[in-house]
Amino acid sequence: MVSSKELKLAYGLAIILFIVGFLSYAAFSSKAPLQPVRIMFQGVAGKVLFDHQTHLGVSGYGIACIDCHHELEDDETATPESCSACHEAESEEEDTPNRTDALHNQCIGCHQDFEAGPTECAFCHIM
Ligand code: HEC
Ligand code: HEC
Ligand code: HEC
Ligand code: HEC
Repeated sequence: MVSSKELKLAYGLAIILFIVGFLSYAAFSSKAPLQPVRIMFQGVAGKVLFDHQTHLGVSGYGIACIDCHHELEDDETATPESCSACHEAESEEEDTPNRTDALHNQCIGCHQDFEAGPTECAFCHIM
């Protein structure tokens, strides 16, 4: 027979262990953001602000990393690279657009598809 005192002790311990476990989980799962939150592009056409956070996930427009960092298709665990790793300023490859075209096509293309987000030069480029 297990006495009711022993049972209470066991339940008490279980509850404490649960709370400790939950607190450790909460403390260690709040990681720092993986990606730069905001990126300011600076080119001859003026500054362009891109906000990762507003474009992402449930709190943003619901877009996934892979929708923009399309190279992730090959390796889902990889960290996204700069577009310039493949899209050079002057593209040599016929079917690989240069950096400006790659970014323009992706940013403006999606804004057109969603019928939301800026598509005019001056809404992105701030002189
Ligand atoms: C959705 C936002 C967006 C819109 C709309 C847009 N651009 Fe851009 N533009 C960008 C981004 C992002 C870059 C890449 C900047 C970089 O490579 O660092 C860029 C790059 C450029 C560059 C190259 C700058 C450099 O220093 O190499 C030029 C020129 C340019 N855009 C002109 C235009 C013109 C003209 C229009 C309108 C017809 C336009 N853009 C519309 C976002 C936009
Ligand atoms: C709406 C498009 C979009 C989405 C969605 C997106 N990114 Fe990005 N990300 C970009 C652009 C554009 C850059 C700038 C790349 C450049 O300057 O060449 C960038 C840059 C980065 C960089 C810096 C790369 C470097 O070395 O310069 C990292 C890391 C990154 N993103 C991670 C992520 C992760 C992780 C996610 C998903 C949680 C994500 N991004 C979702 C568009 C996006
Ligand atoms: C690991 C190399 C690599 C990286 C990194 C990469 N791309 Fe690409 N991208 C390519 C290649 C190769 C193609 C052409 C073949 C294809 O469509 O897959 C391409 C095609 C594209 C296209 C479609 C072609 C077109 O004419 O519109 C867009 C848009 C694009 N990339 C945008 C981006 C953007 C924006 C980034 C950064 C957020 C990026 N890419 C990062 C290799 C890369
Ligand atoms: C896959 C789709 C997608 C891509 C790619 C994308 N956007 Fe957007 N963007 C959106 C949507 C959806 C909105 C929301 C517009 C609204 O709700 O009014 C938006 C809004 C914006 C806005 C206005 C509000 C804000 O959040 O800052 C800016 C500026 C912007 N995008 C810049 C960019 C630039 C620069 C790029 C490329 C580097 C880009 N976007 C790529 C979907 C996209």
